[in-house]
Amino acid sequence: KRVAILISGGGSNMLALVASMTGDHPARPVLVASNDPGAMGLKRAAELGIATAAVEHRPFKGDRAAFEAALLQPILAAEPDILCLAGFMRVLTPAFVARFEGRMLNIHPSLLPKYTGLHTHQRALDAGDTEAGCSVHEVTAALDEGPLLGQARVPVLPGDTADSLGARVLAQEHRLYPAVLRRFAAGDRSPIFLS
Ligand code: GRF
Repeated sequence: KRVAILISGGGSNMLALVASMTGDHPARPVLVASNDPGAMGLKRAAELGIATAAVEHRPFKGDRAAFEAALLQPILAAEPDILCLAGFMRVLTPAFVARFEGRMLNIHPSLLPKYTGLHTHQRALDAGDTEAGCSVHEVTAALDEGPLLGQARVPVLPGDTADSLGARVLAQEHRLYPAVLRRFAAGDRSPIFLS
């Protein structure tokens, strides 16, 4: 299976996914693309010999469709079987999602369905949650929803800040996403739960 990974920043989840796609793994990375040409993850992907592409979203102002039409070029050229959103911070239109329905995954730093959207760790802390975590789901038109493919839980510890909790969750993202992708690429969509 050919996997394209979309990032917006450092790409630590992309690196974890790429590192997992070796040996008898049913998938290989064919492209890392970003909405920010300056994304550090692009440099890291290139250093690993992976094709990269970047389409700056700002010049398109609010014209999401035009931005996505541009981003779609290199993605379609890579002929991916699976799209992985990994720290990708742009909301995709239903039209874009429809093209990859059933073969586009996203990782979100909360125990969905709780805390869709942004600032998930601060919201969990503010709510006094004793647990937090991350979720991998199939991408559908509705933001941060779609069929759950996996979750990993971490404890919220006394004195936690959004940063300390975020770091604890991020470490689990790097375990969960590769585990989910391996199964998904082998045709297994049954959800997995790590703790
Ligand atoms: C992190 O906040 C992570 O929780 C979320 O996207 C952000 C950046 O991730 N999934 P990455 O290091 O670019 O993969």
